[in-house]
Amino acid sequence: MREIGVGVVGLGNIGVTHVRAFMNVKGAKLVAVVDTLRERADSIAKMYGVKSYYTLEDLLRDSEIELVSIATPSYLHAPQAIYAMEYGKHVIVEKPMDITLRGAKTMIERARKNGVKLGVVFQQRFADDVQYLKKLIDEGALGKLFFLSAEMMWWRSEKDYYFKDELARSWRGLWLTEGGGAITNQGIHYVDLLIWLGGGRVEEVIGLIDRLTHPNIEVEDIALGMFRYMGGHLGNIVATVSVQPQDAQYTKIKVFGDEGYAEIHDRNLAVLKTVKGVEAGVKKVEEGAKETLRQPPTLHQKMFQSFVDALLEDRDFPIPGEEGIKSLEVIKAIYLSSKLGQRMKLPLDIDMVI
Ligand SMILES: NC(=O)c1ccc[n+]([C@@H]2O[C@H](COP(=O)([O-])OP(=O)(O)OC[C@H]3O[C@@H](n4cnc5c(N)ncnc54)[C@H](O)[C@@H]3O)[C@@H](O)[C@H]2O)c1
Repeated sequence: MREIGVGVVGLGNIGVTHVRAFMNVKGAKLVAVVDTLRERADSIAKMYGVKSYYTLEDLLRDSEIELVSIATPSYLHAPQAIYAMEYGKHVIVEKPMDITLRGAKTMIERARKNGVKLGVVFQQRFADDVQYLKKLIDEGALGKLFFLSAEMMWWRSEKDYYFKDELARSWRGLWLTEGGGAITNQGIHYVDLLIWLGGGRVEEVIGLIDRLTHPNIEVEDIALGMFRYMGGHLGNIVATVSVQPQDAQYTKIKVFGDEGYAEIHDRNLAVLKTVKGVEAGVKKVEEGAKETLRQPPTLHQKMFQSFVDALLEDRDFPIPGEEGIKSLEVIKAIYLSSKLGQRMKLPLDIDMVI
């Protein structure tokens, strides 16, 4: 069986999740890792028995590598992905795919031009209950959708997250490097799910953002968005990293159709009520499900497996760049709407990093 050689770029919180996940993906062979922190690159490489590099260029010159998985700070995504694609590599990139729409559009265009595949990490789509709900919606079990809603009520502290160490300080909490706060870094998963579950297209957005409980960061710690989907139905989201006490954190997604209603609590389908009485295996939300969904390695593994399968069978990636950019565009529209006090029509013809 042919194996796809993989290189992982950036070995921080999530890069290590990429490494572990790829070790378990069939048809993939982890070949090398790269991090500008040499000790980090060397120790992970040693632990997993792979090559260690300290510059992206050295990794890209490695002809054993066909697929590059990027898990560096968000402002590096477009430059590194474009560089990798110029070397003819397929690319998987963490969310947000870039901090600017222009960067994201260039990535999509370069993937097409160079005949390589570009995929974006939205692992929450691969949670069993989320997949099940998507299937129910597509089969019409909830009828015609009229409203979708998401709440991401999380906590990230200045001390232990934004300013945890020198590396965190170097990019977190800043517009020019993180590209935004609660909704760009964390809430984007739920923006993506709302768009995907709601049929894939949003046409107008109203937003309001603020920074209310983190005085020393630049970016927002709360964001509210309201939108209208193409097709006429409505959606909204609140994403915050200000919730106290910490054990009060939760995430909810609600989907309302004219024949049914469903709720996802964290990763679990917690409510399903339909007029026709679909008796779904609605799972009880277990105590353990209260964990916040920061790094679920099994979801990354499932997602990478489907990406590698697509490469081996020469199909499109399940979440290509064209999908990955949708949530970024809605988020930029939320920021612009908040700043300008206007309702934004999509596609946006302006870009911004505040
Ligand atoms: N999908 C998810 O659930 C999820 C979770 C966490 C983070 N992320 C995303 O992953 C990305 C990384 O986040 P993190 O929390 O792991 O960050 P991090 O700061 O913990 O790690 C970043 C790593 O990249 C390395 N690095 C920096 N510049 C580099 C370069 N030029 N070349 C190679 N390596 C370089 C750093 O030394 C560090 O080891 C972000 O875009 C974030 O949004 C996604």
